Amino acid sequence: MAVVGILAAAGRGERLGTDVPKAFALCAGRPLLEWSLEVLESACDRVVVAVPPDRTGAPDRVAGGDSRSESVRAALRAAPEARIAVVHDAARPLVTRELVEACVAAVDEGWDGAVAAARVSDTIKEAGADERVTRTLDRGMLWAVQTPQAFGADALRKALEEADDTTLAAATDDASLVEAAGGSVRVVEALPDNIKVTSELDLRVAEALLRARAAC
Ligand code: CTP
Ligand code: MG
Repeated sequence: MAVVGILAAAGRGERLGTDVPKAFALCAGRPLLEWSLEVLESACDRVVVAVPPDRTGAPDRVAGGDSRSESVRAALRAAPEARIAVVHDAARPLVTRELVEACVAAVDEGWDGAVAAARVSDTIKEAGADERVTRTLDRGMLWAVQTPQAFGADALRKALEEADDTTLAAATDDASLVEAAGGSVRVVEALPDNIKVTSELDLRVAEALLRARAAC
């Protein structure tokens, strides 16, 4: 059963503001994407990386699209042999092999999708445009969703190929597309330290966590 990693690394990183695309910015001594590429390679049969169009000059690097979902779709199209696809954001360098394997195992058990997610520790409220609180949500049922996200590859292909461009552009993760297509998706509990590097502060926190892990 071919397990193919799909690494989304084609974003510009506008909020980080480095002069290279975010996935290629240095983090604890190596380009950000290298941390998660190494982990995906240890847990998958093959890894396809979606990169900015001017950085495709290596095997298994494909040009990403205008949105994250279009990048994932481009990488998945390059892996027709995939039976399980593990999508991961290059922006999450603290992913572990154990977490990837736990997501893959859930898909092996028959789920269409399995997503890494951390329990929410803050109280979450809804508020209107006037900032008046309309609802306090039940924290016991809330999960902050991360990547990796593993899928039966056909379920992900169907969701990505059937969605229109507006839906793809609006999707903040792949699981929401699979859910919208009627697929079964479960959460796999992950630690909150699997952070996403968005800002300069996140980059510094990720570096500290990676160096601390290396020192253990
Ligand atoms: N991504 C991608 N293709 C895009 C946009 C994003 O592959 N067209 C990837 C990014 O490289 C990143 C992940 O999706 O690994 C999550 O996206 P995000 O954190 O938003 O990264 P960027 O889009 O690069 O950052 P920004 O939104 O600040 O420009
Ligand atoms: Mg983005």
